[in-house]
Amino acid sequence: MNKLVVMMAVVGVSLVMASTVLAGAGKVAYTVHNMSSTNPGGLNRFIASNNEDQICIFCHTPHNARPSVPLWNKVMPGQAFNMYTTASLSPAARAVTAPGPESLLCLSCHDGRTAINVLHNARSTATTATGSKGIEYVVDIGGSFSDATTPANTAEGLPAGVGLSIGMFGFGGTYGANLGKIGGPDTTDMNQLTYGGNLMDDHPISFSYDAAQGNKPTKLNSRAVVSSNSSYAIRFFGPTNRLECSSCHDPHVPYGMDRMGTTGVGDVKLRPFLVMDNTGSALCFACHNK
Ligand code: HEC
Ligand code: HEC
Ligand code: HEC
Ligand code: HEC
Repeated sequence: MNKLVVMMAVVGVSLVMASTVLAGAGKVAYTVHNMSSTNPGGLNRFIASNNEDQICIFCHTPHNARPSVPLWNKVMPGQAFNMYTTASLSPAARAVTAPGPESLLCLSCHDGRTAINVLHNARSTATTATGSKGIEYVVDIGGSFSDATTPANTAEGLPAGVGLSIGMFGFGGTYGANLGKIGGPDTTDMNQLTYGGNLMDDHPISFSYDAAQGNKPTKLNSRAVVSSNSSYAIRFFGPTNRLECSSCHDPHVPYGMDRMGTTGVGDVKLRPFLVMDNTGSALCFACHNK
């Protein structure tokens, strides 16, 4: 018992030290993408660990990363996706059948299915689970949520029940961070076995912007105009200049607000994780000539 009290005191001291060091440094620390036990911005976060104080670790690792770019520390989604499609889209956008690699990074949490707390590399405070690619670390996420119904991760051979998915936080209502959900209340599939693959109600991604623009030169701005409209904030990916989640979003940018409306550090015009101010739909107009 005494030993436990001492250990808790030590943990408490190291947390205070960590937050002192972080204060005034870093950006992502002041956002809901800080899923660690340190919370320098005092944000009201729904999803945070109670035994991992590192912030970057939930997404990045310095060594033995998978995928290697951008030093990724997470298991990737294993299921197929249904993409946004309609007859009015350009042939390039209509031909997309799967998210590009950059968007899969975001979807490794935002599909609502893949575990947010299973990492390739973590410290000894985490428990472990063995998948087809070796040992993965399972970080504790606080609160009263249980991981029992998270589906098996086929990508890394992890069994069901080791992880906690963003979808688990959405029972009983709509929940914005769960992009892969099937329409209707999340309670329709408590086990989430059909979850995670629905991008049909999300802005189209993972096609060549150049190809779409070439097809609709009067409706979509040229890439040079997009760049100047956005002060070079909007990025495209790969040799064909694909549009991906990170064309519109920067996962590190602080915007001084959490979902409960608590104010903090950052520029609220960049909420939620936007690459530029979308006041008056400026982000949309940067590309769309509507
Ligand atoms: C919630 C997930 C998440 C967290 C937490 C996170 N990153 Fe990232 N990071 C990403 C994603 C996704 C990309 C690739 C997409 C992009 O560049 O926007 C990226 C890209 C990067 C890049 C390369 C591209 C660039 O923008 O310079 C660096 C460097 C980086 N992150 C550093 C960090 C550091 C340091 C931390 C911790 C202080 C951190 N990240 C925390 C998700 C995250
Ligand atoms: C490691 C898991 C993880 C990854 C990877 C990740 N996110 Fe998130 N994201 C979260 C969590 C957790 C939240 C907060 C949910 C909440 O508390 O409401 C969140 C919230 C958001 C929000 C809503 C913020 C708000 O204020 O409403 C946006 C937008 C977002 N993420 C975009 C992205 C994009 C784009 C990427 C990839 C570039 C990404 N995320 C990668 C975990 C992740
Ligand atoms: C074309 C630009 C664009 C692309 C591409 C895009 N987003 Fe967004 N996203 C936005 C904007 C703008 C908002 C804010 C909407 C608002 O405030 O009503 C947003 C909101 C969100 C939210 C919060 C939703 C909510 O209801 O709270 C999440 C999570 C998110 N995006 C994740 C992603 C992920 C993951 C991808 C890639 C699969 C992605 N976004 C692709 C522009 C984009
Ligand atoms: C980075 C550039 C870019 C940004 C920013 C952007 N879009 Fe798009 N959007 C596109 C492209 C390219 C397409 C695909 C057009 C095509 O292939 O016909 C598209 C498709 C769409 C479609 C579907 C069109 C159809 O035919 O079904 C809608 C609606 C849309 N965007 C609305 C928005 C809104 C609203 C915003 C701002 C929140 C936004 N877009 C921001 C580039 C962008």
